[in-house]
Amino acid sequence: MKLLVTGGAGFIGSAFVRLALRENWASRLVNLDKLTYAGNLENLTTIEADPRYRFAQGDICDTKLAVSLIEEEKPDAIVHFAAESHVDRSILGPAAFVETNVRGTFSLLEAARATKLPRFLHVSTDEVYGSIDEPHDADEEYPLKTASPYSASKAGSDLLALSYFTTFKMAVTVTRASNNYGPYQFPEKLIPLMISNALEGKPLPIYGDGLQVRDWLFVDDHCRAIWAALTKGAPGQIYNVGGSRALPNRTVVEKILDAVGQPHTLMTTVADRPGHDRRYAITTEKLEKATGWHALMPFEQGLALTIQWYKDNAPWIARVRSGEYQHYYDKNYQGR
Ligand code: NAD
Ligand code: TYD
Repeated sequence: MKLLVTGGAGFIGSAFVRLALRENWASRLVNLDKLTYAGNLENLTTIEADPRYRFAQGDICDTKLAVSLIEEEKPDAIVHFAAESHVDRSILGPAAFVETNVRGTFSLLEAARATKLPRFLHVSTDEVYGSIDEPHDADEEYPLKTASPYSASKAGSDLLALSYFTTFKMAVTVTRASNNYGPYQFPEKLIPLMISNALEGKPLPIYGDGLQVRDWLFVDDHCRAIWAALTKGAPGQIYNVGGSRALPNRTVVEKILDAVGQPHTLMTTVADRPGHDRRYAITTEKLEKATGWHALMPFEQGLALTIQWYKDNAPWIARVRSGEYQHYYDKNYQGR
């Protein structure tokens, strides 16, 4: 397949690009990325010389640019990752979330409609279902109940994407994944932030009581699910993607501290996140039945592999934590 990937310099997008070329899913792959603070071409050094690969720096809100790329490259599908992706940043500054996640997705949908692009895979999140009380798990019919500007902007973009299937008969599919972890994740999200702080013996900030529950999905399992949904899933459908490994945050952080050989006393309680969702939980039977996909990576193995990657890539961490990151860190954590 010839693919146009958006946000391919970010955490999940770059894992998808590397895998799509390694597994020969893509005969051609164009990566459209604005290179925000989260976009990093260092994530793609292993494939940048591949003749099938092309990088195009640009904003998904620029419909003309997307149309010209599609006309030039004639992709069979768009795989749309590009987004503002971090809840805490959406609390500090929601505007960019509406701009990129809602208007940017609209712009891409319009580009795809204008060029009659055959297939559109919209990458979304289980956060659109909001906090889910035990013992329930959300299936794809579960009502949307968003708490943060991030999840609200993703829910808005999901509905727009699905409306293009219903109204314009565009072959749009939506995936909604749980919390991803793995190599190359920007150290603002729980697991990479805790690993990088623990490696330096710095305090690990736990929001509130730390008993909030998240389901953890290894990034390559997510990428394989996206490929399965694109090639074996049906247009107009939503597919949840999860790792079937729900854990309270404290347990995750304790596992990291144990693996790194640091004391649990490094955990420091800080003020809770406003609007903090207590528990995310999804079912993934629909994708499994439709495509045969299953999450393969056991959490403990994926976590060990991820910690090793951060240990081996200290210069990568140092570079992404220089400059803007320090400003964000102070703004989010100082005096909390
Ligand atoms: P990320 O923040 O690591 O990367 C986002 C990428 O999008 C960056 O490369 C950035 O430069 C690019 N980008 C941002 N705004 C852009 C714009 N206007 N135009 C072009 N490019 C732009 O994000 P991620 O964690 O890799 O998430 C990728 C997708 O997966 C997002 O849509 C996110 O909502 C979704 N998702 C993430 C998770 C998770 O746990 N991280 C879970 C489920 C779903
Ligand atoms: P995060 O990785 O931001 O993902 P999301 O909020 O989108 O699920 O956070 C995962 C959980 O970890 C969430 O309950 C918030 C919590 N958390 C902390 O306790 N401390 C932190 O410094 C961060 C970044 C997250």
